[in-house]
Amino acid sequence: MKIGIDQIGFATSNYVLKLDHLAEERGIDPNKLSKGLLMKEISIAPLTEDIVTLGATAAEQILTVEDKQVIDMVIVATESSIDQSKAASVFIHGLLGIQPFARSFEMKEACYAGTAALDYAKLHIKQYPESKVLVIASDIAKYGIEAPGEPTQGAGAIAMLISQNPRILEFNDDNVAQTRDIMDFWRPNYSTTPYVNGVYSTQQYLDCLETTWKEYQKRHGLALADFAAVCFHLPYPKLALKGLNKIMDQSLSQEEQRKLQENFDKSILYSQKVGNIYTGSLFLGLLSLLENSENLKAGDKIALFSYGSGAVAEIFSANLVEGYEKQLTTHRLEQLNQRQELTVATYEELFFAEAQLDENGSAVFSGYDDQVYALVQIDQHQRKYIKVEKPS
Ligand code: HMG
Repeated sequence: MKIGIDQIGFATSNYVLKLDHLAEERGIDPNKLSKGLLMKEISIAPLTEDIVTLGATAAEQILTVEDKQVIDMVIVATESSIDQSKAASVFIHGLLGIQPFARSFEMKEACYAGTAALDYAKLHIKQYPESKVLVIASDIAKYGIEAPGEPTQGAGAIAMLISQNPRILEFNDDNVAQTRDIMDFWRPNYSTTPYVNGVYSTQQYLDCLETTWKEYQKRHGLALADFAAVCFHLPYPKLALKGLNKIMDQSLSQEEQRKLQENFDKSILYSQKVGNIYTGSLFLGLLSLLENSENLKAGDKIALFSYGSGAVAEIFSANLVEGYEKQLTTHRLEQLNQRQELTVATYEELFFAEAQLDENGSAVFSGYDDQVYALVQIDQHQRKYIKVEKPS
């Protein structure tokens, strides 16, 4: 049975910070961000936009009324949970109006959990072929003002509809995972921003890539020449470029190497304008590749490298389905260019604002008119979401 990604949706916030402005304000050479990290802009989410609203917005783009009657599992992969108990997927299930006899839960392992969610979805559909699973990877990456990771922050969600006979990508049963108990990046329950051993984390990312790739090739008898493109987890694109160079097979022809590099360049276009969206970042790279590459064709095999600090890494692959391009959009970059630009001062205010709860644990929010879904209030510690009515 062919199982894979039938649809992919993406949502980010409506605000953007240009990194040239951040560099100027922080007194650093803008080339450090544009060339050293390969970053241009980052999405900034206000209080009314969180992993629930972003996840619901991404899913809304891809689901039909019929899908909502068939989906029987909703998984949200995230490391920016809004509740220690209730899963974001339960809120999203309700907002989207998915039929009630579904399983909804959250999965966590830093940026990696979306990959585990996809594999669980695949196993579920193997057992129940008529089912469809909604997998959402939704995160808001906040490192803090003047933190080394500040220019790599971001906000966004990817939604993927997983089914049999998918119209975009068919999974190959070839996942190879690796776990390492390390402290490269972590966020204790009492902290709103992560603790990061930055340089160590980059070394671990690259070493996990190299060793998992070696094991993947050994187990499956595959070489880089078998792939049209490799997508990487994108904490910032420069690190992934180092990853590509690390696994580049010098015995490939110049033409083959050029094609892999060209597809890599297409895979980072969205992340360069959105930032790190943790669990969704690998799949944002995949979407960017599929919507912008000019040399991909049906049957092409794409490798995906997932990395979550802590750490878990995984490599798996999927093949493009005939007609995949009809399921995608071509104006995503234009949409990103329509976000409202923030000054550094307004970014600091908006991104790090905390809800000011009254003595009853309540607060009412405003300023969400241009969102699709919004957190409109906290009422006695209960988060209240709506679908924003648009004037007709
Ligand atoms: P930094 O201060 O930007 O480090 O922090 P840097 O001084 O090494 O500079 C970065 C690059 O800019 C270097 O290039 C410099 O040479 C270059 P490289 O040597 O790497 O090729 N540079 C310049 N280039 C041109 N013109 C200039 C110039 N100046 C310098 N004038 C760091 C980098 C990664 C430490 C920081 O961004 C950070 O802490 N980020 C957060 C952690 C992170 O992203 N780690 C990645 C691996 S872990 C991961 O992927 C998991 C994660 O997504 C979380 C999860 O799983 O949940 C993060």
